[in-house]
Amino acid sequence: MLYPSEHPLIRQKTTELRDVETAPRRFRALVRELSALLGYEATLDLELAPWTVRTPLADAEGARLAPAVGLVPILRAGLGMVDGFLELIPDAQVWHLGLYRDEETLRPIEYYNRLPTGRLPTGALTGPQSIDVCLLLDPMLATGGSAVAAVDILKRWGSPRIKYVGLIAAPEGVQTLSAAHPDVDIHVAAVDDHLNEHGYIVPGLGDAGDRQFGT
Ligand code: PRP
Ligand code: URA
Repeated sequence: MLYPSEHPLIRQKTTELRDVETAPRRFRALVRELSALLGYEATLDLELAPWTVRTPLADAEGARLAPAVGLVPILRAGLGMVDGFLELIPDAQVWHLGLYRDEETLRPIEYYNRLPTGRLPTGALTGPQSIDVCLLLDPMLATGGSAVAAVDILKRWGSPRIKYVGLIAAPEGVQTLSAAHPDVDIHVAAVDDHLNEHGYIVPGLGDAGDRQFGT
């Protein structure tokens, strides 16, 4: 299911993000702020477990997040989204996945994979058994090839429920990801008009990695 945000703050910040005059320092701040806002929206349906605390006056019956959350940023551009999510869910585990698009074929190439399995030296569980929901982070959903490849990898690894969170999507990318993985919810700030002949989202924002890292 596709969830394009309609939040006014997300609209404003996405507009500033697109602006060719927005320099890397401000661009990174906006990616972080937008990630936190989108993280709020993408976690709206997560289950709660009861949690009672003692205030100075009495017991207060409250709640805490029940599922354990894993964050999987797709390198490079997804890296900039991690801190915004960690502000919301500081206990989330973070696993890195490196994919880049071949410039000619536009197909994703995997070059880094640190998805863990088994136990940590402390004995604590890690890997897919230790989380309940996996948030895949990547600002741009263009052809959808990278997102589909990343979800394929996560599912092979044994990931439970997966949600994709991005900033800008092309209709082509939404279609491709939804067709390949209809169970993966897609949360984005905006769905743009089309892809150009080089596979760039129009109007988009250009290259999300280059704009974050000044390359
Ligand atoms: C960008 C972006 C996505 C991918 C989207 O990464 O961050 O991962 O392109 O394109 P797709 O939907 O057509 O697969 P890029 O390959 O430019 O690598 P980078 O993040 O290292 O710059
Ligand atoms: N990757 C980007 O960073 N931007 C696009 O428009 C398409 C793919």
